[in-house]
Amino acid sequence: MSDFNSQVQLLLDHVDIVSVVDDYIGLRRSGTNYKARCPFHEEKTPSFVVSETKQIYHCFGCGVGGNAINFIMKIENIEFMDALKLLAERFNITVNLDKDRKKSPSLNDFISLNVKVCGLYKKNLAGHQKVKNYLKERQVTNEEIESFEIGYAPDSWQYITNHLKDDKSDLTRALTLGLVLTGKENKPYDYFRNRLLFPIKNQRSQIIGFGGRVLDSGMPKYLNSRDSLLYNKSATLFGIDKAKKEIVHKDYVILTEGYFDVVTLHRFDFTNAVAISGTALTHEHLKILTRFTKNILFLLDGDEAGINAMLRSLPLIIQHEAEAKICILPKDSDADSFLLSQGKEALSQYINNARDLFEYYIECNIKKNPSVTAKSELAKNIVGIVEASTNPVMIDLYLQKTASLIKVEPKTLRALLNKKTSRKELVFAAPLQPRKNLIIPPLEKILVKIALSSREYLDKLLDSRVIEYFSTPEIKDLLTYLQQRDRAEYSLKTLIAEKDAARFLYIITQLSFDDDEIKTETIDVLYTSAITKLEKKKEVADNKKILEAIKDAERHNDQKLLQELLVKKQSSITKSFSKG
Ligand code: UTP
Ligand code: MN
Repeated sequence: MSDFNSQVQLLLDHVDIVSVVDDYIGLRRSGTNYKARCPFHEEKTPSFVVSETKQIYHCFGCGVGGNAINFIMKIENIEFMDALKLLAERFNITVNLDKDRKKSPSLNDFISLNVKVCGLYKKNLAGHQKVKNYLKERQVTNEEIESFEIGYAPDSWQYITNHLKDDKSDLTRALTLGLVLTGKENKPYDYFRNRLLFPIKNQRSQIIGFGGRVLDSGMPKYLNSRDSLLYNKSATLFGIDKAKKEIVHKDYVILTEGYFDVVTLHRFDFTNAVAISGTALTHEHLKILTRFTKNILFLLDGDEAGINAMLRSLPLIIQHEAEAKICILPKDSDADSFLLSQGKEALSQYINNARDLFEYYIECNIKKNPSVTAKSELAKNIVGIVEASTNPVMIDLYLQKTASLIKVEPKTLRALLNKKTSRKELVFAAPLQPRKNLIIPPLEKILVKIALSSREYLDKLLDSRVIEYFSTPEIKDLLTYLQQRDRAEYSLKTLIAEKDAARFLYIITQLSFDDDEIKTETIDVLYTSAITKLEKKKEVADNKKILEAIKDAERHNDQKLLQELLVKKQSSITKSFSKG
């Protein structure tokens, strides 16, 4: 095996595709496999399957399939080499993919630093009774302190700095992440001081930043990590690491505003809650969330600015083909304070009565200004928003809804639709064109499966002439490709990892999820009987052709041709007799 290929193989040996895919879309177990809605095309019921034993995935809806590497390539929209690197980072595997490039510090090194710093803050919390009292007053339990890894940055300029100063690379990384800043004469000092600290984790549970709250009425109330190579405020969802499973399970996400809201919601079993911490909802947030669910429930405090911000996110919601509901808590309470004072049942009631965001948007606008001109402006505005969807059915449904709320004819709104075809100027790519799964006749299927599982039978098959009878060109193409490959590297695993085999991946994964396994004990019987049947089929077809030709020759009274055909027929009968 070439050096490079063996490195790729080494990587794949250590990668677990289930956890890779799970990080992005959240998987549910289904028999021996895992299932989810396909992230590469629109679908309501899951047809995306991941196999732990085979380390592959396949979508029976759109036909995509492959291994961990090409899953990462597709979902992150990155190149092969970058996908390899990302996986190597993710699983902490040292692979030598190119010797020439000098080693730059990896993301893992920065995450490790965050883990170290988080540990320091956590340890420090234990020694500060006033902070523990603060948490107690807010009814945060010890288990929650543990599971959310809440810490405390002491009232010192040098706590972290001192702990890191002996390791030059740690200090440099802390500076890069903004955990340590430099002042006069480049003297380093701590960024977070005298604050309760929440580590912020990504969906893979890696600490990417921190959010720190003052313990009194100081300003700013919260200080968050600066944007860095790890932390991007507008793509951050606090609590996503803990909530993602439940989001998939309940098929909706509770989107709330603050750190404490998430902690308290989880305590009261609303474990599908995450927070966008003090920013507007962004395209990045939705990209992450819609991999888990299309249903978003905004849980907001009664603050008007917050409500308006959420209303402004309607176009984004529609572009992402998500459905949003809005649940507005009484004035001056947020999820945290509401739960503490009113309890779980009261919040459930509120959530059950949540309003459809789209309808709420229209109603708010009509309420604000019910004049004819305002309604007409509103109609234009809605049509503009709805048009951003690439889904014509959804557009139609939204227009019908709007028409009934504004009280005009749906066709009037349809007339407002921009007829330009350049509707594709969306910020994000349209989903992949669904492709059907390949339909392979059963005998061909068995034979190609056998060929894939054993090099010996592949050679046999390709020597056997039966392959000429195959009716699926894609399969012939695949078999020819297999034949031309290096013998030594013959295994399904290496094949799937191969760049050149990319065009066959969907066939290979489709076949791999097929129910009937090829077992070594029965392979010979299976092979022989499939070949025989295929030959028989061919013979029957040939005979039928001869008979038809004979009839034809009789009709045209072509004696010469008739004679030839009869000889042919005779020999084919003898052939099948001699075969038994
Ligand atoms: P809130 O002001 O509603 O605070 O900000 P909160 O979450 O209810 O906090 P508590 O209950 O008073 O402790 C909502 C979120 O906005 C972000 C934080 O993520 C906060 O949780 N925020 C707020 C900041 O980033 N900076 C601020 O100064 C304030
Ligand atoms: Mn609060």
